[in-house]
Formats: sequence, C-alpha cells, structure tokens
Amino acid sequence: MKTLDVNLGARSYTILVGGRALTRAAAVVEPLGFETAPIIITNRTVFELHGGSLLDGLKRFGPSAIVEIGDGERFKSHQTLFKLYREMLRIRADRRSWILSLGGGVVGDIAGFAAATFMRGIRFVNAPTTLLAQVDSSVGGKVGINVPEGKNLVGAFHQPSAVLSDVSTLGTLPDRELGAGLFEVVKTAAIWSEPFVGYLERSLPRILERKANALEHVVVEACRVKAEVVSKDEREQSLRMILNFGHTVGHALEAATAYRRFKHGEAVGWGMLAALAFGRTLGRMDDRSVARLGRLISRVAPLPSLRGIGIEGVWTALCRDKKFRSGGIRMAMLSAIGRCEIVTDVDPDELRRFLVSFLASPGAYFAPGDLR
Ligand code: NAD
Ligand code: GLY
Repeated sequence: MKTLDVNLGARSYTILVGGRALTRAAAVVEPLGFETAPIIITNRTVFELHGGSLLDGLKRFGPSAIVEIGDGERFKSHQTLFKLYREMLRIRADRRSWILSLGGGVVGDIAGFAAATFMRGIRFVNAPTTLLAQVDSSVGGKVGINVPEGKNLVGAFHQPSAVLSDVSTLGTLPDRELGAGLFEVVKTAAIWSEPFVGYLERSLPRILERKANALEHVVVEACRVKAEVVSKDEREQSLRMILNFGHTVGHALEAATAYRRFKHGEAVGWGMLAALAFGRTLGRMDDRSVARLGRLISRVAPLPSLRGIGIEGVWTALCRDKKFRSGGIRMAMLSAIGRCEIVTDVDPDELRRFLVSFLASPGAYFAPGDLR
C-alpha cells in the first residue's frame, strides 16, 4: 500500500494506492473528520462487484446511503445530476454530508460535480475502479457532465478530499477498459518521464496479466506525475495542458464517430500517434523516438480502425473544441520522450493536410511492424 500527496495548500489530499485500499478506507478517511457516513454514488455493475469491500472499510461510520446511477457515458448528464440532487435532498443531506464515488470516470465526474454544486459545495472522496479513473480522472479535481452540444462542457474544479485507488478492483475490468486506461498511462509517461516509458516497455506483459505489483506501480507513477502537474497548475492555465497530449485529435475522432467507435483512451491512443507523426513532419521530434512510442502504443491493445472516418467530421469537431483559437491551434506536442510543450500556433492548413493523409493511411507514418 502506498500513499502520495497532492499539494494544493488548504485543498491538499492523499491518494492511497494498493490492493486493499477499499477495505482500509477508514485509515485515510477518518482523519478528514467527517461527522456522518458517506453518500455512496456508484452504478450497479461496480457496486455488485466491489461495494462489499467498501462497506467493510467504512463500517465504523455507520450505515451509508447508496445511490446508483445508470452505467454508461450517456448517464453523465444533467438528468442524472438532478436525480442525484433530489435523492440527496430526500435523504436530508446537508452541508456536512459527503459523497464517496465508487466507479469509473463517469461516476467520479458526475459525483464530483454533484459535490461541487450541492449546497454550494460539499466534500467528496473518490474510489476509482477503472484504470483510467485511477491514473487520471480521480486526481486533479476536474468534475463535470456532458451536454448535448459536447462532452465535459459543464463542470468545475473541485478537488476530492482523498482518493482510494484499490488496484484489486481492476481484476474484474473488461480487457478493453484496461487497454483504454493504459493508453492514458502511456500518455503520462510520454510527456513526463523517459524511465517510466522504459518501465512500461519492459513490464507491459505483466501489466496486461494484471499482476498486482505491476498495476500498483503504474497507478503510483501516473498519479505522481499528475499530482506534480496539478500542484503547479491546478486550473490549467499553462503546464496542465500537457496532460492533453493526444487529445486534440483524440477528441475529434471521438466526436466524429458520435462517441461510439472508440473508448476515450483508444481515441487518445490514435491521437498520440497522430501528434507524434505530425511532430516528426514538423521536424519537432526524431524518427527513433517516434518509432519507439509508436511501438509501445501499438503493443498496449488493438486500436479500432480509422476506416471510413472522413476529414470533414474530424475537422469540424477539432475546430469546435476548446483547443482551437483564432489564428492557430493549440496542441500538446513532444520535443523528446518525457518532454512536452504546448504549441499555440499550429498552422490549421498544415494540420488539416497532415490529417487527410494520416486518416487515409496511418501506417505510412511508422515503419512496417511498428504499428500492428
Ligand atoms: P466508465 O466510468 O464508463 O467505466 C467503464 C465501464 O467499466 C463501465 O461500464 C463501468 O461500469 C465498468 N467498470 C468500472 N469499474 C469496473 C470494475 N472494477 N470491474 C468491472 N467493470 C467496471 O469509463 P472510464 O473510462 O472509467 O471513464 C471515462 C470518463 O472519464 C469519461 O466521461 C471522461 O470524460 C472522464 N474523464 C475525466 C477526466 C478528469 O480529469 N475528470 C479525465 C479523463 C477522463
Ligand atoms: N485529464 C486531463 C486533466 O486532468 O487535466
């Protein structure tokens, strides 16, 4: 069991990572001084699998309220949010109440947003149960919901009071979800730490076999990077934007396929490949590093094909995204493995030309065998 701290002054908190983080929840939660048992927000899939461990860990707080939401991205909606508010009012939650989210990024994002807004803000603890949520969404305080116009367009920064990342919960995760989370791990390593990239290259088979110590190492290292970045730039004024490496094209691919073809992490996998290939086209990165990361990304998991995705849909989505600025496109790009920069003046014409070619033939940008 390992602990890490996210240093944000009065909003600092601890991340507990390990195989029994849920059953040991009290050790981290008790010092927070809550006066009541939590309101657990979860979904049925996750609660049936892992709710028992959490309830064990929280026994000394007395009976918790359990509120289930639907399973899936479409439930990260204002309708679900209002159901949560009304349920919390029904059970007489007040400003001393606290929320504990048990689930993946969907549950964490909406439960965190409910916490940010209910009675002008109450405290919450994240217990993430997907790899993506353990390495990314549960840390850093971005919470929110989707609206029909786009994903994550309504939200807040509201830091959790603690994060309980129990890697044993990853044992029940479908393979595809594990792969999706691992693409975000590769992103974190690629932008920050060449040794972490080296570790992933060596240990990928053990990670894919879900060996507990390999998963624990991955979650700890990814959280260490995220904690450091968020501590320096909580509200994404500058440095935090590097966490969006692979997301400019990734988000556009998700939107262009109506969020049906790719898991978010898979779209980020493609987005990283595109950013790497584009970076080499611009002379920002050397062939060897591009090939090395391309190989690692392709070993993580198969990526759904880009077949049939036209430039128009991708371009419209990319231009609508938060990263588009008049005169130039903002994009996180690597200058070396472990070093990422925010380029604010990407020439739209150049990027568009590149994307036309990349969508038609991504394999052409990597040596035979580098991409599966
Ligand atoms: P998810 O929450 O939909 O979980 C994926 C699936 O796995 C769901 O069906 C869920 O019920 C199931 N599941 C969860 N834990 C399980 C377990 N241990 N065993 C078996 N099944 C389990 O998806 P996700 O990938 O965790 O999160 C995606 C969401 O995260 C998106 O809404 C995205 O916008 C958001 N996100 C937020 C941030 C942030 O900083 N806040 C960062 C990245 C992504
Ligand atoms: N997932 C990107 C961020 O938290 O900033």
